[in-house]
Order: sequence, then structure tokens, then C-alpha cells
Amino acid sequence: MKIVSVVGARPQFIKAAALSRVLSARHQEVLVHTGQHYDPLLSDVFFSELDLPPPDYHLGVGSATHGKQTAQILERLERVLLKERPQRVLVYGDTNSTLAGALAAAKLNIPLAHVEAGLRSGDRTMPEELNRILADHCADLLFCPTQTAVDNLAREGITAGVHLVGDVMYDALLAQLERLDPRAKLERLALTPRGYVLVTVHRAANTDDPRRLRAILDALGALALPAVFPAHPRVLKAMAAARLSPPPNVRVIDPVGYGDMLALEKEAHRVLTDSGGMQKEAFLLGVPCVTLRDETEWPETVACGWNTLAGADAERIAAAVERPPPTGDRPPLFGDGHAAEKIVRVLKG
Ligand code: UD1
Ligand code: UDP
Repeated sequence: MKIVSVVGARPQFIKAAALSRVLSARHQEVLVHTGQHYDPLLSDVFFSELDLPPPDYHLGVGSATHGKQTAQILERLERVLLKERPQRVLVYGDTNSTLAGALAAAKLNIPLAHVEAGLRSGDRTMPEELNRILADHCADLLFCPTQTAVDNLAREGITAGVHLVGDVMYDALLAQLERLDPRAKLERLALTPRGYVLVTVHRAANTDDPRRLRAILDALGALALPAVFPAHPRVLKAMAAARLSPPPNVRVIDPVGYGDMLALEKEAHRVLTDSGGMQKEAFLLGVPCVTLRDETEWPETVACGWNTLAGADAERIAAAVERPPPTGDRPPLFGDGHAAEKIVRVLKG
């Protein structure tokens, strides 16, 4: 089968690398990079680190408003699909690249597979929530990472083509764990295991609201431990625009590669983040997560005590950082690390 896979943002390169390895052994994959992320540290670094083949097409859209970015991807991708005439289009997650990929396929009546289907935060002001709802309703194959995702789809009347396969990010993480060398990374940053917290912030709700951003920085400044903060360019721009500087115990660094990020997560005392992917990775690595949001698409990590929703509130953040981790084994929330094989088996059938 000829499959066009659409990627555009950092977490999609990581997910695609895990699936592509298995997919390309059985199918002809045509990889399209929309260009939504273009900084080398948000894009190229993952292609080289994860042995992802260079994209067959690069749409070069860059940053723009939601309407413009989505429309440009839609227009340019349609041309690719008309030329390639694939049997299927595959999209990942919930970015503008996901939505545009889903619309382009649906409008041309090309069957659509959505990897990471069924996630819901319940917050429709979040751009990702609209993207994922619309992508799910365009898809005929919906690959869900969790039972919660399957249940969310059923609540919206989607039951056909739904497959619970686990999370491809777990596959990706397992592939990296073997070659992880946290000590080297920690030494380079003069950090000690469990002697720091790891921070990332990039969600619109936090970066585009200077009050929330200031509150998060203040909360970090009040922590007893040093914080290391690999910063997405979006948050740096937001800090500069709001004239906010990091408190003295917060070390802002460039975005890091995937292996380095897992190393930093694995040895952190706590992970403080508004990232979707990092909430799961913290859980999988057995590090308590403090989510800098008021809701999550991964409620099972909260229910089992490994993740705490703290919003942008200094007191809640401080209390969450102090909260001891649960005892006992972690439940297998994200499958068995073989999501890619399961997806490819369904695609083949
Ligand atoms: C996007 C996704 C988000 C995902 C995240 C992963 C949408 C709506 N958002 O958020 O769901 O969690 O990717 O990291 O699709 N920028 C650069 N260099 C780049 C890319 C972006 O400087 O290579 C800056 C630009 O100022 C841009 C801003 O970041 O305006 C936001 O980029 P955008 O792709 O719109 O959203 P992200 O915040 O990256
Ligand atoms: N990540 C990374 N380097 C960074 C920040 C994140 O490799 O500097 C990885 C992280 O480990 C996870 C993924 O990127 O696998 C999450 O991406 P992001 O937080 O940008 O997006 P989200 O998951 O929220 O959509």
C-alpha cells in the first residue's frame, strides 16, 4: 500500500520515527514534512537522531496564524496527494498539521488513519482540542493509545474503525532507553540525579497569557531545587515580549534532542510541564509529573497519583512538587511498547 504520512511538529517526528521503522518494511511510505516546525533544534535534530528518512516532500509553511498555517498546508498537501494518489493518509496527534492533513485526505476521499486518536481535554478553547476532534471525525481508522480515548470516541458516536493499540511514544521511549546515558548529560549541565526539576512550557494558554507565564516563573523561583528549562522558542519570545526573566535558580537552555530529554526526565526530582508527551514520559520513567495546566488528555496518569494538575498557581505547584510519589507498581497505561506493530497489522488487513 502507498501511504502518505504527514508530520510537522517535534512530537510528530518522534512518533513517526517509531512507526516508520515498522511501516516501511511492509508498505511504501511517502513522508511529508509540513514545515510547521523549522528551527533545526525543533526539527532536523530529530530526523538525524532517530534515523527518520529525509521527507519526500517539504511544504515549508513556517509559522503563521492558525487559519493561514492550516490553509497553506491544506493547499500544498492537496497537490502532493493528487500527484501521489496514495491508498491512505496517516496523521499524528493534534497539531495544525494534523488537522490540515485530515482535511486534505477527507476532501479527496482518501482513507485517513489517525494515530493518537480519541484524546480529549474537554477544553475547546485549546487549539489542539479542535484539531483532534475534527481529525477523529474525518478518520476511518482511529488508533487509540488508551481505553479512555476509546471511551471518548464512543461518547461521540465513533465506534467503527477504532483500535486500542497503546502509545507509539512508549515504543519510541523503549527504543531510546537502551542507548540512554543520563550521566554524561547531567555532568555537562552540572546537575545531580534527583537534584533538580525539569521544566518545559509551550502551550498557548501559558505562553500567550503574561500573567500565567509570570506566575509559573515565580513558582519556579520559589522552589528549593534548581530548575533546568529547555525552552521552546515560543516561550522565549513570550518572556521577551512580557519583559520576564527567569529567576536565579532557573537555567534556561536551548531545546534538547530526544535522548537528552529522556535522560533529563529520567533523573529529575520532578517534571514540571504543559507538554502532552512529557506527562506520559515522566510516568513511563517513574518520575512524578506536575502538569502546568488545569486539565489533561491523560487523566489516567492523574488517577494513579503520578501526575498532579497544578495550573499556573504558585501554591498548587509548590504542593505538587512536595507530594511524594505513589508506592507500588505503575499500571500499564500505555500498552506494551508494540503499538507500531499493532498499527501496521491493522493497516495490512
Ligand atoms: C505546536 C502545536 C502543539 C504541539 C507543539 C509541539 C498547534 C496549534 N500547536 O505548538 O499542539 O504541542 O507544536 O511542540 O499545532 N516557532 C519557532 N520556530 C519553529 C516553530 C515555531 O520559533 O520552528 C515559534 C514561532 O514564533 C511560532 C510559535 O513558535 O509562531 C508557535 O509555533 P506553532 O507551530 O504555531 O505552535 P507550537 O507552540 O510550536
Ligand atoms: N522533547 C525533546 N526536546 C525538548 C522538548 C521536548 O526532545 O527540548 C520531546 C519530549 O521528550 C517529547 C516530545 O518532545 O517526546 C514532546 O513534545 P512537545 O512537548 O513539544 O509537544 P506535545 O507533546 O505537548 O505535543
